[in-house]
Amino acid sequence: MTEIIQIIVLSSVLVLIVLMLITILTLFFVAKAPYVPSQKKMIKSILDSIQMKKNAKLYDLGCGDGRFLIQAEKTYQIKGIGFEISIIPYLFSILFKKIEKSDVQIHFANFYKKNLSDADYIFCYLYPEMMEKVAEKIKKECKKGTKLISNTFSIKNMQPSKVIAKNKNQKQNIYIYEF
Ligand SMILES: C[S@@+](CC[C@H](N)C(=O)[O-])C[C@H]1O[C@@H](n2cnc3c(N)ncnc32)[C@H](O)[C@@H]1O
Repeated sequence: MTEIIQIIVLSSVLVLIVLMLITILTLFFVAKAPYVPSQKKMIKSILDSIQMKKNAKLYDLGCGDGRFLIQAEKTYQIKGIGFEISIIPYLFSILFKKIEKSDVQIHFANFYKKNLSDADYIFCYLYPEMMEKVAEKIKKECKKGTKLISNTFSIKNMQPSKVIAKNKNQKQNIYIYEF
């Protein structure tokens, strides 16, 4: 009996170590933005300031644990699609989706390799260096009027249509762009 318990504990530790290694390697080589989830309060203030149409397509590029999409679906009945490249946040997103009985689709994938042409809204919380490449992708693929909501990071040389102050004491904002 104790041997079985030892084997279970050892294999769980091994699985955890492998998952952590995969996450660290992914962070270094593919995902240049670490997993830092958007705060609950911030998600609420974004959703309060943008009225999304029912059944509109909302993408989250690097959706982490998927909570932004799940909350947006609850609030506006949008169709949510997320891409996440790190295994641990992806597994959390599958768990939250089940708990919340959500219909959002979350794919374990690199969003640069995905087509976003049917997007009405795109949300991201990435990294300053990624914003220009994301803007280029949207300009190339998406229809006129597609809105990008970026947590914290702005796009150089592009004027946002709206800026929401994230926090009175910090200089971080939410930037909304219309393409
Ligand atoms: C700062 S977190 C934000 C998570 C979520 N959007 C939120 O606001 O709570 C950024 C996430 O983007 C993911 N990511 C970065 N580059 C990616 C890529 N090319 N494809 C898919 N996911 C990516 C990271 O793994 C990380 O989980």
